[in-house]
Amino acid sequence: MSEEMQRTIEALVDGQRGILAADESSGTIAKRFAAIGVESTEQNRQAYRSALLATPDLGQYIAGVILFEETLEQCDTEGTALTAVAQAQGIVPGIKVDKGKGPLPGAPGDMITYGLDGLAERLTDYKDKGARFAKWREVYPISHHNPTALGLTANAEMLARYAAVCQSVGIVPIVEPEVLIDGDHSIERSAAVNERVWHAVFHALHQHGVELEYLLLKPSMVTPGKSAPRAPVEQVAEWTLKILRRTVPAAVPSINFLSGGQSPQEATKNLNAINALSGQSPWQLSFSFARALQEPALQAWRGEAVNTGAAQAVFLKRARLNHLAMLGEYRVDMEP
Ligand code: 13P
Repeated sequence: MSEEMQRTIEALVDGQRGILAADESSGTIAKRFAAIGVESTEQNRQAYRSALLATPDLGQYIAGVILFEETLEQCDTEGTALTAVAQAQGIVPGIKVDKGKGPLPGAPGDMITYGLDGLAERLTDYKDKGARFAKWREVYPISHHNPTALGLTANAEMLARYAAVCQSVGIVPIVEPEVLIDGDHSIERSAAVNERVWHAVFHALHQHGVELEYLLLKPSMVTPGKSAPRAPVEQVAEWTLKILRRTVPAAVPSINFLSGGQSPQEATKNLNAINALSGQSPWQLSFSFARALQEPALQAWRGEAVNTGAAQAVFLKRARLNHLAMLGEYRVDMEP
């Protein structure tokens, strides 16, 4: 198992590339399509996602793709499996395995994610279909009293149990504790919450015997709430690195941030600042964005086949700019 997971880690972590999150659930993709006036039919989802994966040269900047269950079994119009389209570009297919979230009873305002029952069997099936890594997301809203102590423990426990099941079948888990940016909280409050969350997660991973060498962490960046004034990128980088260093063991090979509702440019700027400030850090500091990679592509595509090339061009550009941000070489004047 560990040799197989080591190969997956080596394919995903090369200091140059990130992960595309294209695993929007049926509800979420419907919302993204509605924003560009496109109906979420199976055909439209196939057209859109196969266009993303077929983007020429994408493999230069993207090492892995997180798919939704439907996509793992889908083919393009020529009958090639979308997993094969990804693999042909040197992109490792992965799979979202959680089944969404709901309220956590006993902890008003906190959430909990579903999907542990039968997970080992599902993972074995996904592996047969080409998936080499998985993703599970726990969600933490920030409010005056959230996350609660129970919320912290219960969510960490879910992530650790999921990760342990993944590793038992040779699948590399992406552990995603998403602290939401909704609200008007300060960057200091975000730092304090993320610190408690990451600490609880690594404590639970340890208790469940999860091997840190074979997992990826997908955290939020430490930013102020969406309704609070923006923080300078240097401050985001400083807080994010400070809290990561306090809580994430050096054995973890890579940290792949989510974008969480930041604009594409903001997410890239922050990733660049984090890498520029990090110096010799024990982990790769990369990305696993959904919205911050896809938004410009969705706007360019708008459900029309004639726009596919234009959508692929802006998508490739976002992927390249985030690759440059990993190297600390991104500049805002590269945007227009
Ligand atoms: P965003 O980058 O849009 O936050 O999505 C990342 C993701 O995979 C959420 O689970």
